[in-house]
Amino acid sequence: MNIEHETTMNTENATTVDFSLNDQLVTYRGNPNLSLLKYLREDRGLISVKDGCSPQAACGACVVQINAKGVLSCVTPMHKISGARVTTVEGLGSYRRQVFANAFVNKAGVQCGFCIPGFVMQANALIGRNPDPGIAEISRAITPNLCRCTGYKKIVEAISCAANAIRTEEEIPLHSTPAHIGMGHPKYEADRLVLGQHRYTDDIRVKGMRYGALRFSDHPRARVLRINTLEARKIPGVLLVVTADDVPGERCVGLIQQDWPLMIAEGEVTRYIGDVIAGVVAESEETARQAAEAIKIQYDILTPITDPHAAMKSDCPTVHPDLNSNILSRSETARGDATSAEINSSYVSQGIYQTQHIEHGYMEPECAIAYPSKQGIEVLSQSQGVYEDRKQIASLLGLTQKQVRVILVPNGGAFGGKEDLSVQGHAALMASLLQAPVKVRLNREESINMHPKRHPVWMDYRAGCDENGKLTFVKASFIGDTGAYASVGMKVLERCAGHATGAYHVPVVDVQSVAVYTNNIPCGAMRGFGVNQATFGLESCIDDLCEQGNFDRWQFRYDNALTNGGMTATGQVIEGGAGVRQTLQALKDAFYKHKHVGLACGIKNTGVGNGMPEDSKVRVSIDQPNRVIIDHGWTEMGQGVNTMALQALCNETGLDPNIIEVRVDTQSEQYAGMTTASRATSLMCNAIIDASHSLKTDLATHTLDDLVGREYHGQWRVDWTSKPSNQSEHSITHYSYSYATQMVLLDEHGQITKVLAAHDAGKIFNPKLFEGQIEGSIHMGLGYAISEDLPMENGRPKSTMLRKCGILRARQMPEIEIIGIEVPDPYGPHGAKGVGEIGLVPTAAAVANALYQYDGVRRTSLPMQI
Ligand code: FES
Repeated sequence: MNIEHETTMNTENATTVDFSLNDQLVTYRGNPNLSLLKYLREDRGLISVKDGCSPQAACGACVVQINAKGVLSCVTPMHKISGARVTTVEGLGSYRRQVFANAFVNKAGVQCGFCIPGFVMQANALIGRNPDPGIAEISRAITPNLCRCTGYKKIVEAISCAANAIRTEEEIPLHSTPAHIGMGHPKYEADRLVLGQHRYTDDIRVKGMRYGALRFSDHPRARVLRINTLEARKIPGVLLVVTADDVPGERCVGLIQQDWPLMIAEGEVTRYIGDVIAGVVAESEETARQAAEAIKIQYDILTPITDPHAAMKSDCPTVHPDLNSNILSRSETARGDATSAEINSSYVSQGIYQTQHIEHGYMEPECAIAYPSKQGIEVLSQSQGVYEDRKQIASLLGLTQKQVRVILVPNGGAFGGKEDLSVQGHAALMASLLQAPVKVRLNREESINMHPKRHPVWMDYRAGCDENGKLTFVKASFIGDTGAYASVGMKVLERCAGHATGAYHVPVVDVQSVAVYTNNIPCGAMRGFGVNQATFGLESCIDDLCEQGNFDRWQFRYDNALTNGGMTATGQVIEGGAGVRQTLQALKDAFYKHKHVGLACGIKNTGVGNGMPEDSKVRVSIDQPNRVIIDHGWTEMGQGVNTMALQALCNETGLDPNIIEVRVDTQSEQYAGMTTASRATSLMCNAIIDASHSLKTDLATHTLDDLVGREYHGQWRVDWTSKPSNQSEHSITHYSYSYATQMVLLDEHGQITKVLAAHDAGKIFNPKLFEGQIEGSIHMGLGYAISEDLPMENGRPKSTMLRKCGILRARQMPEIEIIGIEVPDPYGPHGAKGVGEIGLVPTAAAVANALYQYDGVRRTSLPMQI
């Protein structure tokens, strides 16, 4: 059958292109330069082809097969495919679709899933060229494809497994592992992710949907004198232009401190390059973007404040004119007399360390859809906390929280970067004013300019030990460039302070940590949350002390490691579950076997803590005899929280996992805070265990048929933590911690060949997902160590190209070996501790220490040259 398809984009130079799409002949008439990606997604509705960075050609999420080759469809114009055979995942045929789906699911090669259809098509092309590819060839072949979640190891294994099956014409049965805690049960809805059939926000179409675009500031610091929207309003297809004056409620949002305006008003000074000045809604995204550009803005340009050290001085102008200083926060923790401890120490290491801005690089850029509802407004959000979204959107629109409903769309990676409101507020405002559905999405450049990054932190570390190699004190000063808005910057720097002594017991501590506003891109939450930075400084000092005192590096760490009864930097006495020694023990033999080896330990809080109560509510509803629904409030962003929910419920009740559905929607009122601080599994599964008690009792005497219509509620609350400044006897900064030791091996050329990672997760709920979290973190940690950076100049990133962010590709990854340790936590569900972040806490330090062993050069700033 020949399908004629005429694009909606008729131009004078319209061309006709005949080609085959998923084995159907197609005739395209339209713009010859339209990208194949746009055509496939928008004109043909093929959602397996993802738009992660178009037209930057950096991520590979849009790879399709053209004839025998995997090709980036975002940079392939329609005129180039004349006569070609184009195949997407939808056109692979049922056998190959199942082979790839089951290979990726069995090998746990999928997390958020956004990148995976692109890998599948690249793999399909490779298998066509070579039915028996080796690991190295697979890694080379997938070089155009980025994955930010997995660390590639399990993707490569999945492709190898698929190739074997295809070569031998065999099926791959899905591993049917029981959904009990401790089992490698397949990830919830993973097959849909592999085949590209999960609808991320940008894949969703709502009837009558219009498109919003944002006009960003041209300068990081400038007074906005006039915003002229006349020309923009005249463009055919433009439906609405919004500025700050149109915000009916509170114009500023923020998770902790509401200092971030949805749009900058006339007369106001911009604070960074990602400030929004106006927005446009139009019939098409192209028109909306064209109109946003047509808005004329007059500025009085001011010199941006970009150096946090200069910004702290009293004569420096303030980023926020209503504040009298650029200091966002100061965190301190101290005990004992650090001056005399230093004088009396046998060895003292001192160093200034500096880390860099890091882009999250999640594969799915920001997108939100909002539409009017009977109550007020509904929003489809990919954020890390729908209840926080609801609160902020209600405040912006001047509505009650009951009038705002936020539905989570499981997202394509976040890593902390989707905690702050990005486009949800703009979409909600536009939909509310227009009384029509509106989608707002950012392209990659806008995403990089707008969302908060990982903090660059300047650190002055001093650490000492006695003649026996016992740590005597740690003094540290942290200055973090928090950029234009508060976000969670004060908490990140608080976390630096709270983890300043790492996974060690140190008797004397003196730590200050300051978050400083500048006109750089805001910094906020990112995997590790300040702990990676502190660990890089501290673990470098530890190795230096070992060298000075000729101490064995493994034994020094073991002797000083936190044990139950030991104290963290904040003076919290570890009540139980201290597992760092067990992680060291697991790497002991390997450490002594190798020559150029770097070692570092890590500790990471589970839960926000610091005096903030933390809650998780869940509801289990027996909807039908074959449909049980779990409503919770945490964000699925690839880490597997929905799978954890399912496994916890099945473990407690014996329910069949195939009848369980997991939802996150504020309408359920199953409150949770931000999905952050490695806490979702811990808090949520405790709540599910709570809900399961009565369900289990009922199931003992009833069938599910009998229970249809019943609901079971569970809750878990932590309200016993305290702020780090509170030096009371019972200071409890966090209710739980996880622990790790990592070891980096170098070859004779100083190149990283292997990372061994021993991680104490308390109780490993799902070994495959656990490994995936740690492997993905190590990938991110290695990038942090040696390649990733987002250098800024005069308040602007030097580049907004994803490929310039330094994210490592598959062929650049060394071998990774994960060793799981289980030292039960007193509060975690079945003893579990958070694992979302600790995977990269010690990585950069372990690399730095390995490099020092190799060439004797102590690296003090990241990324390190190798
Ligand atoms: Fe690859 Fe998330 S699974 S980017």
